[in-house]
Amino acid sequence: MNTGETDEHTIFARRESNARSYCRSFPAMFVQALGATLTDGEGRRYIDFLAGCSSLNYGHNDPDMKRALGEHLASDGVAMGLDLHTPAKEAFLESFERLILSPRGMDHRVMFTGPTGANAVEAALKIARKATGRTNVIAFTNGFHGVTAGALAATANGYHRGGASVPLSHVTRMPYAGSAGSVDTADLLATMLANPSSGIDRPAAVLVETVQGEGGLNVASAEWLRRIAGIARDHGALLIIDDIQAGCGRTGSFFSFDGMGIDADLVTMAKSLSGFGLPMAVVLVKPAYDVFGPAEHNGTFRGNNHAFVTAGVALEKFWANGAFKERIAERAEQLRGRLSAIAAQVPGASVKGRGMMLGVDLGSGDVAADICATCFEKGLVIETSGAFDEVVKVLAPLTIDAETCGRGLDILEAAVIEHAGANRQAAE
Ligand SMILES: Cc1ncc(COP(=O)(O)O)c(C=O)c1O
Repeated sequence: MNTGETDEHTIFARRESNARSYCRSFPAMFVQALGATLTDGEGRRYIDFLAGCSSLNYGHNDPDMKRALGEHLASDGVAMGLDLHTPAKEAFLESFERLILSPRGMDHRVMFTGPTGANAVEAALKIARKATGRTNVIAFTNGFHGVTAGALAATANGYHRGGASVPLSHVTRMPYAGSAGSVDTADLLATMLANPSSGIDRPAAVLVETVQGEGGLNVASAEWLRRIAGIARDHGALLIIDDIQAGCGRTGSFFSFDGMGIDADLVTMAKSLSGFGLPMAVVLVKPAYDVFGPAEHNGTFRGNNHAFVTAGVALEKFWANGAFKERIAERAEQLRGRLSAIAAQVPGASVKGRGMMLGVDLGSGDVAADICATCFEKGLVIETSGAFDEVVKVLAPLTIDAETCGRGLDILEAAVIEHAGANRQAAE
């Protein structure tokens, strides 16, 4: 079986667009996936510290989700259904209300958007603009919100922005928490918005990630987030929390802002919401801002019933009580401890992130890329993030067991030591 992305004779190299990306870093033919393990066509197993970029928080092919989906298929349950009423959608909404929204006192409505994160962000931005009658949005340095034109205007990454080929407008960029040295970036935002001559148009929304996934695992404190929420409120702007990567348990609780006393007007979710890697995205919107008329923001794929089936199972299985949260906390502790020891191998390196959204900042994109490539050779799938791709990011499934997690960390440690050793030799 041909596994080589580098082999120009493969159908992928011949016919798949140049825009393909992950397959270049991980040039194998993956034929099977279970839990936290991927298997290629030659029977080689890889520990998955990427988890579909956090779209597989519950691991690959969870047996209960697989069974429920199998039963749905076997009974000729509706697959695609526009946004028609179906039992699968009803069950998902009932579970979401009972297990997620009601216990948190959230009266938000659930708007199903097209099934990607960018779709949800587009919808949230449009809602904020329509509800406030304003156009400008405050977004932050290193923020990542997707690559469709509206979302891309809020995304900070220069490489992605370069792909737009049109001016990316109606967004004002402000420095994220802790990104401007000793400057208090919440104070700075407050000062700028309070000054009618700051040049910043009154914002419709403030759009923020609580932990920047693609931007380098930068963590905003609860206090900073509360201040941003207060500033948004003071200036009549809606607070949009983009929980597409940090949500669904990744940072330790269902929402990344749980327990912080933050009352988001809009929350975007996608990635692991379906639980099974099936495309599904939503905007949670406070009733007062549920401003779209029927089909005003439409789209064919707003009713992925297969995703509703697995999403419902994910909620009932993992979020009906606090056991999963405890399990994430244990694994997060294991990861943080080992990653700190790994970071200690490289001068200047440090651990970043929160919960099971952790990584090692190696200070150099080249070093991080080398280490990830070595990891892949040794059977670990892991990638980088950050402005310079300098952070090796661990996004293991939240369900990974301690032993498999430990083996993945062993591989990462060996790759880092190998790299540090090579560096020392070169310096001598
Ligand atoms: C925080 C955040 N928002 C939005 C997106 C875009 O989601 P998608 O790639 O599904 O369009 C991502 C993707 O990584 C993300 O991390």
